[in-house]
Amino acid sequence: MTDKRVRFTIDGVELEGSTEETIMDAAEQAGIYIPKLCDVEGLDPQGSCRLCTVRLNGRPVASCTQPVEEGAVVENETTELLNVRRDLTRMLFHEGNHLCPICEASGNCELQAMAYRLEITQATKYPYLQPARSLDASHPDIALDTDRCIRCGRCIRVSNDVDHKGVFGYVGRGINKRVAVNADNLALTDASIDDAAIGVETCPVGCIIRKGVGFSVPIGHREFDESIIGSDREN
Ligand code: FES
Repeated sequence: MTDKRVRFTIDGVELEGSTEETIMDAAEQAGIYIPKLCDVEGLDPQGSCRLCTVRLNGRPVASCTQPVEEGAVVENETTELLNVRRDLTRMLFHEGNHLCPICEASGNCELQAMAYRLEITQATKYPYLQPARSLDASHPDIALDTDRCIRCGRCIRVSNDVDHKGVFGYVGRGINKRVAVNADNLALTDASIDDAAIGVETCPVGCIIRKGVGFSVPIGHREFDESIIGSDREN
């Protein structure tokens, strides 16, 4: 696609961007926060969590994959879209085992932080599926608790594109889809504590656990204990 300068609006704010940018990119540059869980700057978008859904000229689209267009009217912070995002967030809580009070990721967890941002005070709308997948603690430095996986694919893309190791991938389909490793267990992979895929920025929840550093920053003093998710990207 040829790069063209275009003008468009997000919630009535007039912006200029390039047809090579996504709505998410353009919004972030303009200091407008669009919620997201699977998209990460520097990685190809996966477009799976749908938290970033906006309306483009009235049509729902994933803003992390949708390029901007000349004259586009983008709606982001509407009651309808906030409710869609609340439902998507609730469903993630119901599908996995997200027991925040006993999770090492509490306070750094983007799912928990998204619930706070969206003012979800209870998650009782759907039945809890309570999966009982196995915990892989075979590696000396890393553990994998896929009951907390939200299938954002961030570890998969980072392991492939940054670490060039391909340690993580998906197995299963539909409700049974989950992240897995490319060997019988983590200890048999070439995953290392120094991999970008294992870094604290990669897994947005408590699925990938770094052993030996638990609670080094006390709860109450962690990233999202101090600030609302997305507030660093907002004007
Ligand atoms: Fe766009 Fe997940 S952030 S689909």
